Amino acid sequence: MDRYCVFGNPIAHSKSPEIHAAYAAQTGQQLSYERRLAPVDGFAQAVREFIAEGGKGANVTLPFKLDAHKLADALTMRAQAAGAVNTLVFGPDGIIGDNTDGAGLVADIVRNAGVPIAGKRVLMLGAGGAARGAVLPILEERPAALVIANRTVATAEALVQQFAALAGEGVLSSSGFESLQGSFDIVINATSASLNAALPPIPAAVFHQGTLALDMMYGKEPTVFMHFAAEHGATVRDGLGMLIEQAAEAFYGWRGVRPDTSALLVQMRSKL
Ligand code: ATR
Repeated sequence: MDRYCVFGNPIAHSKSPEIHAAYAAQTGQQLSYERRLAPVDGFAQAVREFIAEGGKGANVTLPFKLDAHKLADALTMRAQAAGAVNTLVFGPDGIIGDNTDGAGLVADIVRNAGVPIAGKRVLMLGAGGAARGAVLPILEERPAALVIANRTVATAEALVQQFAALAGEGVLSSSGFESLQGSFDIVINATSASLNAALPPIPAAVFHQGTLALDMMYGKEPTVFMHFAAEHGATVRDGLGMLIEQAAEAFYGWRGVRPDTSALLVQMRSKL
């Protein structure tokens, strides 16, 4: 049986084994998928051990996404753009590093929420790892505008510089939170502020009636960002759909079969 795993530290909380077991059952793929706790300074060694045991691929979560980027012998374009790796494929050509987080986000917005990104005004809050991974997949959908707003504006501006050549003229720009102008069709919270129940200080006018507001975080209760957005007319969504979709994209990369995600999203929501 082909073996896969997820590396992280801590790892006990990871939902990936449950998600991939569901995909394997649904698509009739014979595989096993386990959690692996890697020492904080021992990621490469842990990966090599898993490969020696016959591992075919792995997901990578905190704090190893940069280590995985360094370890890979080759990177997909989206992993290069993200500067981080969440999916590894072990094959005859060595270790391939991919990043499916941004594709998962886009799939959740376009397919699950039914909101096309093409031609829309998109606001991304945050300019850290989570935001960087989403920029290229969003730009590939051809939004009318993508504004990256961050507490530290220089970090947002650095992202704009990195991706400027890939965006159409005037599409990509940076901003601080308070100085945001106008309203947006899609607002994505890629800051880690929700972890501390904090809200980036954005004007309520970034939302209009029917704006899709998505927080990459998820939990049993809506985040402060989701409460704020809903109070100002937005339709809100958390990051559970993105989690399930990034896993589907990794599963597709390993097995060549795309699982259906809709039933699993409902099932996992009910268990939060
Ligand atoms: P991740 O991998 O989750 O993106 P990260 O790379 O540490 O984590 O980035 C965290 C992001 O959340 C950054 O954009 C950070 O803003 P700064 O660049 O100014 O540090 C943002 N962030 C964290 N806490 C925040 C808060 N309380 N309010 C607003 N932004 C916050």
